[in-house]
Amino acid sequence: MSYEQLHFAPDAVFLVTGGAGFIGSNICEALLNKGLQVRCLDNLSTGHRENIEPFLDNPNFTFLEQDIRDLDACMEACRGVTYVCHEAAWGSVPRSIEMPLLYEEINIRGTLNMMEAARQNGVQKFVYASSSSVYGDSTTLPKREGGEGRLLSPYALTKRTDEEYGALYHRLYGLDTYGLRYFNVFGRRQDPNGAYAAVIPKFLRLLLAGEQCTIHGDGRQSRDFTYVDNVIEGNLRACLAPSEAAGEAYNIGAGGREYLIDVYNNLCVALGIEREPIFGPPRAGDIRDSNADISKAREKLGYDPSYDFKAGITLAINWYREHL
Ligand SMILES: NC(=O)c1ccc[n+]([C@@H]2O[C@H](COP(=O)([O-])OP(=O)(O)OC[C@H]3O[C@@H](n4cnc5c(N)ncnc54)[C@H](O)[C@@H]3O)[C@@H](O)[C@H]2O)c1
Repeated sequence: MSYEQLHFAPDAVFLVTGGAGFIGSNICEALLNKGLQVRCLDNLSTGHRENIEPFLDNPNFTFLEQDIRDLDACMEACRGVTYVCHEAAWGSVPRSIEMPLLYEEINIRGTLNMMEAARQNGVQKFVYASSSSVYGDSTTLPKREGGEGRLLSPYALTKRTDEEYGALYHRLYGLDTYGLRYFNVFGRRQDPNGAYAAVIPKFLRLLLAGEQCTIHGDGRQSRDFTYVDNVIEGNLRACLAPSEAAGEAYNIGAGGREYLIDVYNNLCVALGIEREPIFGPPRAGDIRDSNADISKAREKLGYDPSYDFKAGITLAINWYREHL
């Protein structure tokens, strides 16, 4: 059963932080398509107004241009809210290595502000974005909750800390928190521009523009590339999960494993392009291999991803062809 079939009370109110970003805007859209009320809080620092432009006329949608570092704004945004999907954060491992202080402010303090505001406003479920980067240097495959290694970046540390706060807020205050460890998400509206863009939209942009792509390392690093609709499903399932499943973190992947060089070659074939990539030095903080064991999320949240890599990448390629 995909997330389209999941039911919520018609008077439920959702707050999606980071709702003008890639994942957040997709969650907003899925909820609006169900006729539910959605508040989107975003400071537009890495997200874009165009991502939410089509929703602005919808009477069920409210946009709050605010910052999660501002506790008063978080309190105001959480008033009367049933479910929070907290996506706002700064992503990118390499950028976090350049600016650790900013990551602490946004990803840790901002998340703590949101949890506190949710607690004080009696929010029912607080679902938040964690990351596969919390597995750090663990070489065990697939990655399983409880098998975390030493952290490799400030970004990973912010997400691990958020998970600790999530567990604590559940234990101390009874707030139902669910941490979702996303594994390399891709799909429509992911930003293809800038030095810190994710690899799939970046490759698509460069290939479609007739430029060469750089692969950091030998291309034999592997990832569980996860289509964005699986992540929407993970969020909605967590909102409907029982309290017994709260205070925990869950892998949200597709359960597959793709080598980067194969992804590159597949994109070239799909676009009908023959072009060799450039091989650059490996990047600090990058994990060599990563794929998710999703059995915990399956069992406790009922998560059942509908899209494998092949189905997702076909949809993503079609979207970027139309929009780039
Ligand atoms: N994309 C992935 O592969 C991936 C993987 C693991 C985890 N995540 C996590 O998922 C979440 C969403 O990521 P995304 O890929 O959609 O990134 P994104 O940059 O597209 O979205 C993040 C959004 O948060 C907003 N934001 C940032 N700082 C803010 C602040 N201080 N106040 C209010 N809004 C703020 C940005 O403007 C943006 O719209 C993040 O928490 C990220 O760490 C993403």
